[in-house]
Amino acid sequence: MAILPIVLFPDPVLLEPTKPVGEIDDEIRQLVSDMEETMYAAPGVGLAANQVGVGKRLCLVNVTAGDDPSQLMVLIDPVIHERSSQTEVGEEGCLSFPDVLIDVHRSLTIEVEATDLEGNRRRWTEEGFTARVIQHEVEHLDGKVFIGNISPLKREMIKRKIKKRIEAGDWESAPVS
Ligand code: NI
Repeated sequence: MAILPIVLFPDPVLLEPTKPVGEIDDEIRQLVSDMEETMYAAPGVGLAANQVGVGKRLCLVNVTAGDDPSQLMVLIDPVIHERSSQTEVGEEGCLSFPDVLIDVHRSLTIEVEATDLEGNRRRWTEEGFTARVIQHEVEHLDGKVFIGNISPLKREMIKRKIKKRIEAGDWESAPVS
């Protein structure tokens, strides 16, 4: 396993839709293993492949941020079929936006379909925080980022702050200890 560098906004790989994975081969298994180590080291509760520079439709979620590795979900070629009209506001961060926290409305319940690392395709329901994280990660795979969910005014404010931080050399992934 290896810790991979995390790509930061506004890198173009974060803003382009990813390509389907299809068949799961050794290269994908290696990528998943490296992404798992990278996510726990960050630490984060979710990581999309394009956040490590790979434009493939694959993401990892572990709402325990690695405290319990058995909670790992590998979502290959995920699709969100249903989103409840009932939403919830929650504070979100993103490993591609160091130290940026924003309130985002997300559907409380979703129905998701994805393939696991063993190649099993299934469809199930998630709610609450897990549903939030999956929505955030699938959004990455669609080439979108979480600041797309807030008002244009707030978004421009955040983008201006980020621009200043980039210019000041203060826009780097959190050091991994
Ligand atoms: Ni993110």
